[in-house]
Amino acid sequence: MLKIAVLVSGGGTNLQAIIDAIDSGSLTGVSIELVVSNRENAYALTRAKEHGIDSECIKPSDHADRSAYGQYLADHLKERGIGLVVLAGFLVVLPENFVDAFEGRIINIHPSLIPSFSGDGFYGLKVHEAALERGVKVTGATVHFVDKGCDTGPIIMQKAVYVEPGDTPEILQKRVMEQAEWVILPQAIQMIANRHSDGQ
Ligand code: GAR
Repeated sequence: MLKIAVLVSGGGTNLQAIIDAIDSGSLTGVSIELVVSNRENAYALTRAKEHGIDSECIKPSDHADRSAYGQYLADHLKERGIGLVVLAGFLVVLPENFVDAFEGRIINIHPSLIPSFSGDGFYGLKVHEAALERGVKVTGATVHFVDKGCDTGPIIMQKAVYVEPGDTPEILQKRVMEQAEWVILPQAIQMIANRHSDGQ
C-alpha cells in the first residue's frame, strides 16, 4: 500500500477526485494517510474530515524560516510513512530541504499544458486568465514531478482541453478541472502506485 499525503491550500476538488477514485475502486493500492493545508480555512480540510482522513494545518509562518518549515514538514511526513506527496492546489513553494527529503516522490497538478502558462506567478485562475488573454485554442493540465524549480520537473501526464468561444477564466477553469485535472491526477498516482507495488 502506497501511503500518500495530499497538500492543499484551497477548495480541494483535486483532493476530492483522489478520494472518489479510491472509493470507487478505480485507484487501488493507495491510502490517503494525511491532508496538510497551509491555510486553516481551506475547504479541503473539511472534505478530509468528512471522509475520516487525518488533516492538519501547518503554516510556514509558524516556523523560524523556510528551512525550519521544510525540515518539520519532512520529518512529520516521514514519521507517518509517507511514500508519495501529492500537491493538489498547494500554493506554497516547497523549501529545498523538503524537496531533497522526498526527491522523486513529490508530484504536482498544474492547470495548463506545461511549459505554457507555468512558473512564477502562474497559479489558479491566473493561469486561465493568461491563456484567454493569449488567445490559445487548446489548454489543459499537467501532472509533473516536483524539483527545486517552479513547474520545471519531469512531466508525468498531460491532457488537452479545448477553449470555447465565450469562455471566462472561471468557465475555462471548471472545464480544465472536469476534463483534465480530476482525470489525470488519480491516473498518475495509480502509475506511481503500480511501480511502488513492483518494488521499484
Ligand atoms: C487547481 O486548478 C490546481 O491545478 C491549481 O489550483 C487549483 C486548486 O483547486 N494549482 C496550481 O495552480 C498550482 N500552480 P482545488 O483546491 O479545487 O483542487
